[in-house]
Amino acid sequence: MADGLLIAKGSEEHFLLPRMANRHGLIAGATGTGKTVTLRVMAENFSHIGVPVFMADVKGDLSGIARPGQANPKINERIEKLGLEGFEYAAFPTVFWDVFGEQGHPVRTTVFDMGPILMSRLLNLNEIQSGVLTMVFKIADDIFRFTDENDRPLRDLKDLHAMLQYVGDNAAQFKTQYGNVSAASVGAIQRGLLVLEEQGGDKFFGDPPLDLDDLIQTRDGRGVINILAADKLINAPKLYATFLLWFLSELFERLPEIGDPDKPKLVFFFDEAHLLFNDAPKVLLEKIEQVIRLIRSKGVGVYFVTQNPLDVPDVVLGQLGNRVQHALRAFTPRDQEAVKAAAKTFRQSKDFDVQAAITELGVGEALVSLLNEKGQPNVVDRALVLPPQSQLPPLTPPERDGIVKQSTLFGHYEKVIDRESAYEMLKARAPGVGQGQAQSAGWQAGAGKLLGALGTSAARAIGSQVGREIIRGVLGSIFGSTTRRRR
Ligand SMILES: Nc1ncnc2c1ncn2[C@@H]1O[C@H](COP(=O)(O)OP(=O)(O)OP(=O)(O)O)[C@@H](O)[C@H]1O
Ligand SMILES: [Mg+2]
Repeated sequence: MADGLLIAKGSEEHFLLPRMANRHGLIAGATGTGKTVTLRVMAENFSHIGVPVFMADVKGDLSGIARPGQANPKINERIEKLGLEGFEYAAFPTVFWDVFGEQGHPVRTTVFDMGPILMSRLLNLNEIQSGVLTMVFKIADDIFRFTDENDRPLRDLKDLHAMLQYVGDNAAQFKTQYGNVSAASVGAIQRGLLVLEEQGGDKFFGDPPLDLDDLIQTRDGRGVINILAADKLINAPKLYATFLLWFLSELFERLPEIGDPDKPKLVFFFDEAHLLFNDAPKVLLEKIEQVIRLIRSKGVGVYFVTQNPLDVPDVVLGQLGNRVQHALRAFTPRDQEAVKAAAKTFRQSKDFDVQAAITELGVGEALVSLLNEKGQPNVVDRALVLPPQSQLPPLTPPERDGIVKQSTLFGHYEKVIDRESAYEMLKARAPGVGQGQAQSAGWQAGAGKLLGALGTSAARAIGSQVGREIIRGVLGSIFGSTTRRRR
């Protein structure tokens, strides 16, 4: 896989090297300067060499990738200018996904797999409330210890509601083993759940959950391009950012360590990346930095797309090796700061003034610095990005629908399943779970009976010593979700 992927041409040709593609990247620039087209050109090239891609489509302008482009004067001009002999229009194998299940296959996970850290972010919890939520996860894992490693006690939001209520109602019994659960914290978490449900977040939790193998696919040697509809999702920016972060953490946890491969296993484009970092608490930022750093050796390349490179924290920015900087405006002092900062991130050229160039670039033109074979950034060059091979305008809804329905995945994720989990089990144990004090008295006896029904490993878990060991799964991995395999 020595051949590089031709992305742009300036004073020389700029190749994205497949071997360096897991060293991440950045596509930055003001609105309308060509970021999405650059992302698309990269995605097409990855697909060509059999690398699957995942991207969120924030503006609904990516679906045309499933159809070949058509000649038009602007594109022709660019082809000519760049001297691209043998340029061909092409369509790419595309799979559409949608959290809301409207414009693609539904994407779901379980509450348990989301883990307490990301769940806290979704629910807008403070540190204390987040601690209580973590406790609720632990308790669920302890008392519903399934014999099947792949099972999850907390699957949908209903399970979390029921479990919270249960822990709240029986706070006194849990206190010595787990810690204090205040009614105020439980109330705050429940309010957070209501807000999340109003944003449509309930759609995201349940069964069947997304199987990552369904994303990492090739068709006739080409990498599948997975497009997540995000035009609606972006209206709840935290949900959007947390969802993508969950996705990264899933990749991180489930893919094996492979070092530096000849080409990535998957490339992930994170559009509107600044949303990931907006008022993120320090713990979260640290985790993000960690995931980005470590996911490289799992063969995943992460490309952030954002208007302003200053939106990305330095520790993360420093890890983005392949860079395409489109034009920035320099109207306000903050703009000018951004231009200066962006210019400083490049290995300077003797041939031109990088800082001045950033404000002069035309649409589809950029300052490009990709990694060479040694993993060093090339000297920055002013270059024109290639035109896309696929159709620029989006698909019509019937065209898109056709692709969704013809997919081999169609039917699997569309069918919602309500699996037996905490909600059902708590309900079965005692009619009227969640009705407060009346229930708490018989808790130990009731739980004993329930656990008996769940098998011996579950019954053992009630003993505090054993219980502690079992939580390792819940706390062991990066966002607090488990490392156990599902299904
Ligand atoms: N490499 C290119 N080849 C041909 N046309 C291009 C190229 N880059 C940009 N264009 C043209 O410029 C338009 C705007 O580009 P694009 O949508 O990529 O901007 P953007 O930076 O993503 O904007 P926004 O921030 O609003 O999402 C495209 O629709 C296309 O017509
Ligand atoms: Mg765009």
